[in-house]
Amino acid sequence: MKYENVKNDLKQQINSGAIKPGSKLPSIRELSVQWKCSKNTVIRAIDELEKEHLIYSVPKSGYYVIVRPSKSEGRPEGRIDFAAASPDPGIIPYEEIGHGLNRAVQLYGDRLFTYGDPLGFLSLRETISQHMAVSQIFAEPERICIVSGSQQALHLLASMPFPNGKSAILVEQPCYTGMLRIMSLLGVTPIGIARTESGLDLDELERHFRNNSIKFFYTVPRYHNPLGTSLSRLEKETIASLAEKYDVYIVEDDYLADLETDSKADPICSYDHSGRVIYIRSFSKIMLPGLRLGAAVLPASLITLFRMYKSSSDLSTSALSQAALEIHLGSGLFQRHAARMRDRYGIRMKALQKACSQYLNEGFRLSKSAGGIFAQLELPDHLVAEELAAALRQKDVYVFPTMQCYLPSMESANSWRLSIIRTNELEIEHGIRIIRQTADELMSQRRTNKFSRSAITWI
Ligand SMILES: Cc1ncc(COP(=O)(O)O)c(C=O)c1O
Repeated sequence: MKYENVKNDLKQQINSGAIKPGSKLPSIRELSVQWKCSKNTVIRAIDELEKEHLIYSVPKSGYYVIVRPSKSEGRPEGRIDFAAASPDPGIIPYEEIGHGLNRAVQLYGDRLFTYGDPLGFLSLRETISQHMAVSQIFAEPERICIVSGSQQALHLLASMPFPNGKSAILVEQPCYTGMLRIMSLLGVTPIGIARTESGLDLDELERHFRNNSIKFFYTVPRYHNPLGTSLSRLEKETIASLAEKYDVYIVEDDYLADLETDSKADPICSYDHSGRVIYIRSFSKIMLPGLRLGAAVLPASLITLFRMYKSSSDLSTSALSQAALEIHLGSGLFQRHAARMRDRYGIRMKALQKACSQYLNEGFRLSKSAGGIFAQLELPDHLVAEELAAALRQKDVYVFPTMQCYLPSMESANSWRLSIIRTNELEIEHGIRIIRQTADELMSQRRTNKFSRSAITWI
């Protein structure tokens, strides 16, 4: 019998539940007797099933069927969450990650339970250097620092003095709330520049670089949070050349790099010829955010100081998390999982666009997000984003008003950030219909109130 037949037969039994999740497969010898084939044929079939993450091996024990949590597990019944930013527990490969953690303990032993280099494991930095080369970032491991989530890198950079001796931080408006919080807690002077669906005004950017004492410009060029949109190649090239011209550093937060679908979408870092771009990558949206893993690529002029700040913050990032990431990246599991997420999220983003164009026409406008996990929904003037969000919460539908993404001094948009990370296609369609219905109810309630108020005035 051919190995494909054995594989398909086993697969069918696993998918139908005939072989239960968590149970052990019969031994290779038993399977070869059962299918009247050689042991090599069975081994090949088993290898394929392991690659497809249907089974996993336990050394000296055998092969086990992976237990997958049901899609709705970890998600309260009925709740539709367009506000979430952390991955859907239903699609996180817990078993694989657990398996990676076990392998990490076996492979690294003592090294996992002691203090390490503040920059992180050299072997992991080498693996990350290769991984980043796929996105046109060519960084030697000596310039890479593993951080405890990209959030830590942002915090350290906002705290550090920079060689340009400047002090203010320029941020896009709207901006990732986590960065706004850092600046406010550290008492750093923030300056805002508008970013819309069509990007940045490059003349205004140049005026800021020329006239203000800007230490760095914080930007999220790819799948912006909360806009969902990406900067053009021209914008990225211009940012890199203005950085050199005016001695302003760029902090490029590429938190969703692994979800990119356009192989030509290079980061600003790839256009940097003057060593002024600090590139930050997060591993939270593909692996577990709880592992707290990110990486920062620093220009040679900043790495020593950054290492000192990192070390004074937490000595080093959890060795267990680092080892799990190294195993995932090295084995290709991370890349395969990222590809699965890209497909899933792509389908969901299309479902969001379809539902919005079907149910939310007059005055609503969804940003043209080409991928990623977020899109911005602008509301008509007569609906206040926070008020409608509060009404939706009563119906167990959660959205994220973008007012929180603006500096107090800047004019904010009447909009929400909609996330598809924890909603499936059915929930998206259902959720958008509830938004339509609730908006209509709010309007008719307002009309009634207006009528009763005018009636009272008249009496
Ligand atoms: C734009 C952006 N940057 C950074 C972070 C922080 O991510 P991490 O989990 O890597 O600290 C987030 C989290 O949602 C984010 O949206």
